[in-house]
Amino acid sequence: MTRAIGIDIGGTGIKGAVVDTETGELLTERIKLETPRGGKPDDIAAVVQEIYQQLNEAAPVGICVPSVVQNGTTKSAANISNEWIDFPAQQRFEQDLGQQVVVINDADAAGLAEMRFGAGKGRAGLVIMTTLGTGIGSAMFINGQLVPNSELGHIEIGGKDYEKVASYKAKERYQLSFDRWAKRLQRYYEQLEKLFTPDLFIVGGGISKSHDLFLPKIEIETEIIPAQFRNNSGIIGAAEQAFENQ
Ligand code: BGC
Repeated sequence: MTRAIGIDIGGTGIKGAVVDTETGELLTERIKLETPRGGKPDDIAAVVQEIYQQLNEAAPVGICVPSVVQNGTTKSAANISNEWIDFPAQQRFEQDLGQQVVVINDADAAGLAEMRFGAGKGRAGLVIMTTLGTGIGSAMFINGQLVPNSELGHIEIGGKDYEKVASYKAKERYQLSFDRWAKRLQRYYEQLEKLFTPDLFIVGGGISKSHDLFLPKIEIETEIIPAQFRNNSGIIGAAEQAFENQ
């Protein structure tokens, strides 16, 4: 059976669906519930359980979170409650759901979906996926293999944690035109290019649907392309990882 559940914990919504891990397609409607205010682990765990119950499917479960995840423990909290730092997330979800789960970083999950079914399919060498959203997430792949927990959104440029300067949220907060935002992104991708010499950048996040408004303005040597999935890549990648780990 190539079915798995993917649940994506985000800043505004928590989304889940059953995924066909062979094709990356969603096999059920996507359930989306609001992220509880404050984003505390207890409150989020309750919503995850609710989604799981609604999906009502006996299948492996993958959950992605906007945090570094090591051995099932969340280790950072850039845009979520500090209570996630050193929180035994996997253990907690397993207790609540009464079954094994896999917990991974949200950008890593999005990257897995792109590499398997989307813009990165069949691409060898070093591929860096970035997600432009509330923060900047990153996923690094070497010959298709994920190197987990890269946190390239927090690279400092000009003494600043750069996700605060160039995320989509920063664009909104500072009311930047696409031109001005692209200048900031230019600096960002130039820096990543200098540090890693990748073979490909994939740019994801909801705003990547408007890629033609900013990607062509970024002038770097490395090929840079939009992600193919918009809002479901976290769900698909988390499900994928759960299926492979079972
Ligand atoms: C977090 C990452 C996360 C990214 C996107 C960053 O602030 O540090 O772990 O992947 O936001 O949600």
